[in-house]
Amino acid sequence: MFNERDIIQKTTDHVRGLLSGEGSGHDWFHIERVRNVALAIAREERADLFVVELAALLHDVADWKFAGGDHEAGPRAASEWLISMGVPQATIEHVTAIIAGLSFKGAGVQTPMTTIEGQCVQDADRLDAIGAIGIARAFAYGGHKGRALYDPAVPPESHASFEAYKKNTGPTINHFYEKLLLLKDRMNTETGKRLASERHVVLEEFLEEFFAEWVGKR
Ligand code: ADP
Ligand code: NI
Repeated sequence: MFNERDIIQKTTDHVRGLLSGEGSGHDWFHIERVRNVALAIAREERADLFVVELAALLHDVADWKFAGGDHEAGPRAASEWLISMGVPQATIEHVTAIIAGLSFKGAGVQTPMTTIEGQCVQDADRLDAIGAIGIARAFAYGGHKGRALYDPAVPPESHASFEAYKKNTGPTINHFYEKLLLLKDRMNTETGKRLASERHVVLEEFLEEFFAEWVGKR
């Protein structure tokens, strides 16, 4: 029988099993934070909590960055799981559309979310990329990919296409200018905007301190 609580519990266990111990900042705790923040935003926005929770839980199970660049892998893995759980087709389509549209794709590329449920999940995922946790995740990802922390000779780029954004191998500090500092102006919901403006300040303060220490001023 179709039981939302049961499906959420089984999906939680499934994702926890897949992502526990992942080392690039896309681990289970990222999913748990995104799920919790997405649900908090969704309650404010009166969005469908079942769709929001499923999309948050399943949004990183097969990210293109770790699936050999295959953009269909994430939505497909989510869809297969939800079919196996007996979730109605319309819900599956909504959840997979959210997952397909979630990612940041470069400074010059718009990534609109058409449903309020998608907007809640996208805001929550982006909030986890900024603030203190976002800083930690950026350097975890950079280390995972063997990137430099910072190189004054390599300026940040403004990527006009997803292709250019994906090819980027610059230092992690550049990622702040190429993505993280841009996120506060790309939030969808009022709650997301408020939370992002607080976390944005943490990024700015971190960068100020980083550059002061870099030149030995502190
Ligand atoms: P999105 O959820 O928009 O797809 P990603 O999965 O690309 O976000 O990013 C997940 C985490 O990895 C974020 O905290 C992000 O800042 C970080 N990250 C992604 N690309 C880079 C990079 N080139 N350098 C440092 N951190 C990165
Ligand atoms: Ni994510």
